[in-house]
Amino acid sequence: PATKRFHFNVEWKQVTRLCHTKPLLTVNGEYPGPTIAVHEGDHVEVEVTNRVARNTTIHWHGIRQYRTGWADGPAYITQCPIREGHTYTYKFSVVDQRGTLLWHAHFAWQRASVHGAFIIYPRLPYPFSPKIQAEIPIIFGEWWNGDVDAVESEMMLHGGGPNSSDAYTINGLPGPLYPCSAKDTFVRAVEPGKTYMLRIINAALNDELFFAVANHTLSVVEIDAVYTKPFSTQAIMIAPGQTTNVLITVNQAPDPSGMFPMAATPYVTSIFPFDNSTTLGYLKYRGPKSSDESSKPSVVVPNLPRMTDTPFATEFLNKLRSLATPQYPCRVPKAIDRRVITTVSLNLQDCPPNQTCEGLHGKRFYASMNNQSFVRPLMSILEGHYKNFTASQMLTSTFPERPPKEFNFTGVDPLAENMNTEFGSKLLVVPFGMNLEIVLQDTNFLNPENHPIHVHGHNFFIVGQGFGNYDANVDPAGYNLVDPPERNTVAVPIGGWAAIRFKTDNPGAWFVHCHLEVHTSWGLALTFIVPNGPGPSQRLLPPPDDLPSC
Ligand code: C2O
Repeated sequence: PATKRFHFNVEWKQVTRLCHTKPLLTVNGEYPGPTIAVHEGDHVEVEVTNRVARNTTIHWHGIRQYRTGWADGPAYITQCPIREGHTYTYKFSVVDQRGTLLWHAHFAWQRASVHGAFIIYPRLPYPFSPKIQAEIPIIFGEWWNGDVDAVESEMMLHGGGPNSSDAYTINGLPGPLYPCSAKDTFVRAVEPGKTYMLRIINAALNDELFFAVANHTLSVVEIDAVYTKPFSTQAIMIAPGQTTNVLITVNQAPDPSGMFPMAATPYVTSIFPFDNSTTLGYLKYRGPKSSDESSKPSVVVPNLPRMTDTPFATEFLNKLRSLATPQYPCRVPKAIDRRVITTVSLNLQDCPPNQTCEGLHGKRFYASMNNQSFVRPLMSILEGHYKNFTASQMLTSTFPERPPKEFNFTGVDPLAENMNTEFGSKLLVVPFGMNLEIVLQDTNFLNPENHPIHVHGHNFFIVGQGFGNYDANVDPAGYNLVDPPERNTVAVPIGGWAAIRFKTDNPGAWFVHCHLEVHTSWGLALTFIVPNGPGPSQRLLPPPDDLPSC
């Protein structure tokens, strides 16, 4: 194992897309940011210097951070923010993980432009064929013509929905379907006959996406840096925070231009104002045909599922399976010590007196888990936990383990029903080393999208998912305890539920939240605490000297 060092300067850079130029928050002036590439087992040190007049933090999404929660990154959960002019070095090891992940800022909506690929090369050869001749990172993002943090503060001030982004992007480029954007198109040359691995990352803030390449089949081999049983598909579905490796063999007769379009478009089940929302890029075949520079690429969008295609979404999710071989066993807990049932919900909150609110029916939008809207405390929860602060010193209280009421799936009347939430920094404390099941129940209220729920510090197994209300007497019988997919982010089906299992083997304070940034801002989050285990190698390490203070 080697130590790999990186330096990140968080800095402004003038960037132009859709003919709008603005200062964009970047790492080292790059958008998307620099790729971190390491090998399984490496020790990683990333020195992050904040050169902007805003607080920031960086999160290594999907890295287990075993005993090194201080390097996890979510602001006010595991650290105080890095202030202007300050530096913090994130130090952690990449243990027993391999594949594609992402890193991103974990403060306000900075993830919009502060993100990049985190690639872990395996120690052993890939457990699939054919041989990969090259790899192509495909990072989805969203571009706003205006300042993104302002979109969030505006939304929080008035209680309405956020302004949609102005474009989706592939590797920072919107592509030719947006106004004034044709020159900002991702084009990658490929050799006919070769097999490429696409490392696909969804860093978009607020939408789950479908992705396809015209006339080419995608073979899914890995999700969230865990190998899967390979399967072929015309399109993939990927939620914010998720990653997917697919193989593609360049074996088609190209159109006269030598170009094959690839595209991504969102999965949403109600009509959004923003539905011309397709980002397009190209694979350009090398060969005699593509040497004719005068030929124009066809702007034909690949055959993507339509935006509301829940049957495709369900079928795709059901195809995902752990590899589950002796080399890569599936460590799903067969039995559990505790089941926590929690709603994942959008809410309408009564408007405070003497204010105007811009959510539905003159109310404010919020979001919650078990009707608790998570409020970030003013200190780092991990630090408070490490120093044995009491709940009253930390201004935290206990997360209620059961939903406050049964939910009605025939349609909730937002005026008749009291949808008010409670606010607070609620902590769920679970013992070290237990097999925990969390059932995430969407309440189907106002919600047109899957909630991609991300768990920090642990991978989990998705043992079951379905539509309607979860039934603890019936649904566990249908669980997959043989080869369920292992991930760090699960898309909870619209109007349905997902059951996830994992062992609480990583001491620390861990954020759980919807990876749609708008829902995190509205409070769809909780933090759980895993105390130290009995063994000396089961304890959280002491905080680093340069840990930022609040
Ligand atoms: Cu990728 Cu808490 O986030």
